[in-house]
Amino acid sequence: MTDTLPGASTALHTDAAVWASIHREEERQEAQLELIASENHASEEVMAAMGTALTNKYAEGYPGRRYYGGCEHVDEVEDLARDRAKELFGAERANVQPHSGTQANMAAFMAVLDPGDKVLAMSLDHGGHLSHGHVKNFSGVFYDFHSYGVDRGTERLDMDQVREQALQLRPRMLIAGASAYSRPIDFAAFAAIAKEIDALFMVDMAHIAGLVAGGAHASPIPYADIVTMTTHKTLRGPRGGLILCPKDRIVRVNSALFPGGQGGPLMHVIAAKAIAFREALQPSFKDYAAQVVANAGVLADTLSESGIRIVSGGTDNHVMLVDVGSIGLSGAAAEDALHRVGITCNKNLIPFDERPPMEASGIRLGTAAITTRGLDEADMGALGAWIADVLRAPESDAVIERVRGEVAALTADKPIYSPRS
Ligand SMILES: Cc1ncc(COP(=O)(O)O)c(C=O)c1O
Repeated sequence: MTDTLPGASTALHTDAAVWASIHREEERQEAQLELIASENHASEEVMAAMGTALTNKYAEGYPGRRYYGGCEHVDEVEDLARDRAKELFGAERANVQPHSGTQANMAAFMAVLDPGDKVLAMSLDHGGHLSHGHVKNFSGVFYDFHSYGVDRGTERLDMDQVREQALQLRPRMLIAGASAYSRPIDFAAFAAIAKEIDALFMVDMAHIAGLVAGGAHASPIPYADIVTMTTHKTLRGPRGGLILCPKDRIVRVNSALFPGGQGGPLMHVIAAKAIAFREALQPSFKDYAAQVVANAGVLADTLSESGIRIVSGGTDNHVMLVDVGSIGLSGAAAEDALHRVGITCNKNLIPFDERPPMEASGIRLGTAAITTRGLDEADMGALGAWIADVLRAPESDAVIERVRGEVAALTADKPIYSPRS
């Protein structure tokens, strides 16, 4: 690999220290299998857009109504991003400015709630996200969050239990969406509960946005009052957030985001979002989304057949929770062992976990990134066997050595980015 990034010239790279670290990170990504479920490998075109002069532009406001001059070209870019987001998800309105998923959620809450309002969302311990009510997050500080979890027996959402809690609590808003839930979410059932108690219904589809875009998970758009997401997970865009809503809510969403929660938008990132949305509109993205789900299914089945328990018995999307406690390991030990062979993942609580979060009984595995680099079902069978071998013998140098070699051969065979000249 040479020392140039897409769109940048070597002659301009004088900061040896920073570029050396960037190159080591690029090489790490090429050489390792990325199973962190919230990560992906954005296209070179998406990355190139972020390294442009658009980073210089202040554009507080929205297209046609900015607080700064010289916005005619960034207006074009933001209009393209908004139009493509609306087309991709079939939404009436889009705000493409959130710097992150958490800021999209902050704006969504500010647009429709008052401080102190009751909200019912998925428990963080069962797969929810910290911006859905963690005590130290703005959400838990400014709103009165309560949580529903999965059923102890099935480890799936039980909509009767959610309904019972909602009827009792009578929250102002019900939220669906998770960071570690491997089964389909029944948006129609959530919307019916929200309607019954006259609550708002919000969906945070950060994790499954790419699956929804590619038709591999049902869309929440027909059911939700407001939808937020990140653009960098299964959707495979730049890091950032996106809010979708019906047209009668966009004025409040826009002002909740700016000036409510952010200043100037990151126009270089919005350009990258526009490019990513176009990529996701291509027929090939449907194939990608289907392959992500097929790969996850084979990986989960392979691990399960090797005697390692998968939470809820498997997966229907891109993610799975592997109960490594079922073979006597902690999630932290499993994460470390896999790291030694070049497989990156994260320890994760499993529902009703008795270990503390920094230890955990599970690891969370996702197939979005490895599918982007071209791995298929046959590779998943091999990968599942390697993971099982490592987890069953985490102290065996011979096993670690062998699997590290297998991972190195596979990553060399399936590079993420074309070699640059
Ligand atoms: C469901 C959900 N919502 C929101 C976020 C927050 O995204 P960000 O890290 O961009 O703030 C995440 C990120 O993991 C997530 O999983």
